[in-house]
Amino acid sequence: MKYKEIASYIRDKVISGDWFYGMRIPSHRTLANQFNVNRVTIIKSIELLESEGFIYTKKGSGTYVNDYLNEDYILNKWSEMMEWSFRMRSQYTVQLINKIEADPSYIHISKGELGKDLLPHLELKNAMTRVSNYIGELSFGYNNGYGYSKLRELIAKRLNNEGINITKDNVLVTSGALHAIQLLVTGFLSQNTVIFSNTPSYINSTHVFDYFNMKKVSISYSELSDFQNIINKLPSHREKALYIEPSFNNPTGQSISEKMREDMVNYSKVHNMPIIEDDIYRDIWFEEKPTRSLKSLDTTHNVIHISSFSKSIAPAIRIGWAIASEKVIEQLADIRMQIDYGSSILSQMVVYELLESGDYDRHVSNLRNALKEKRDYMLNILNEDFSNIAQWDIPKGGFFIWINFNENIDVKKLFSELIDKEKILINPGFIYGSDTNTIRLSYAFEDKANIKYALTKIYQYACYTEFK
Ligand SMILES: Cc1ncc(COP(=O)(O)O)c(C=O)c1O
Repeated sequence: MKYKEIASYIRDKVISGDWFYGMRIPSHRTLANQFNVNRVTIIKSIELLESEGFIYTKKGSGTYVNDYLNEDYILNKWSEMMEWSFRMRSQYTVQLINKIEADPSYIHISKGELGKDLLPHLELKNAMTRVSNYIGELSFGYNNGYGYSKLRELIAKRLNNEGINITKDNVLVTSGALHAIQLLVTGFLSQNTVIFSNTPSYINSTHVFDYFNMKKVSISYSELSDFQNIINKLPSHREKALYIEPSFNNPTGQSISEKMREDMVNYSKVHNMPIIEDDIYRDIWFEEKPTRSLKSLDTTHNVIHISSFSKSIAPAIRIGWAIASEKVIEQLADIRMQIDYGSSILSQMVVYELLESGDYDRHVSNLRNALKEKRDYMLNILNEDFSNIAQWDIPKGGFFIWINFNENIDVKKLFSELIDKEKILINPGFIYGSDTNTIRLSYAFEDKANIKYALTKIYQYACYTEFK
């Protein structure tokens, strides 16, 4: 019998409780006789179990069962196990931001969410009332993985009006846009895929493509017009995909031109390269609607279009979508049945009612005006106070102003000082892949008084944290 099998026998005894904490286990000699092996084999089994924490040896006394079922011990063991798990944890700064973002005692001047004043509370309440009217007729069983049929139909119809030629069979309802990306990573892209993406980008603040150790190549905005040459450097046999936020990029607010959209779609056709188009801020425009989506230019199903209602209704609704060929949608729906049986049917019905009643369009139209006003408010303060220490562009949509500080300002220090001393949270640009002195500011979440207060403090601390 091999040492691993002997170890397994002892492990089972401990787990089942036959051998309990503090008990001395049979001597090496007894075990060697029992299993008819030499003592070296027994020593190897004991060493293995010691390293796993099941047993411990007291010099000159013998080997004892460890406190394996002790909660602290298990917690330690689990932490160790999680460190080696498939999914990596977010970088430390992102973990800290996620933690503080849930704390209402901070001022969240970078947050990518609508503030309470901008949420469609009444519209949501009315939609929920309408759902409650037919609640008795509904089956509350598991869904089929594709999503609520009426919502899929309505999303398809709305996207038809945007020049995207699809039916409900091309729509998968997801639990947000990030979930759609995750499904594509697990159920569509091969593990050897090299992902090209614009940078700075939201995607750099998540580990979604690292899931299967996919290699990521970032293309900065200034180089994006040269994307074909950059991608062509990869040997043609390597599998590749492009992730792009064409409208009002998070965090910079930039959009890409119609010409570049056409070039990307043509390239994807010629090279059979999938494009993941993340168009989550498309509805949040101020002066003019964004130009055509990549999906509307796509005739060969190379573009997978994803979006959600997180930015126009609320993230907690957790409803988004992926648009792709029927075959891909079928595959993703199958994956969902293996993972979570689909998104909440209640949320889907509420969104359906919001859209169907026209309340969503009325709300988004008001939202654009309100956000534009808050953007202008923030820009006015920046123009007055920040011109000597930073530069920025005027965003034409989305939630954010991307601040590029002069070189002598230490953004990491600014970030931690504002948290520690002022309870103000800013998102430093490096979490999005920026290698310059940048931060993301949001006019979407806080009210005007807090925007003013936070900006005054940021200016003050930016001047303090200057490298002298
Ligand atoms: C560009 C982009 N894509 C996806 C997401 C994730 O959105 P959702 O809440 O729909 O998962 C965000 C959220 O900030 C985002 O900015």
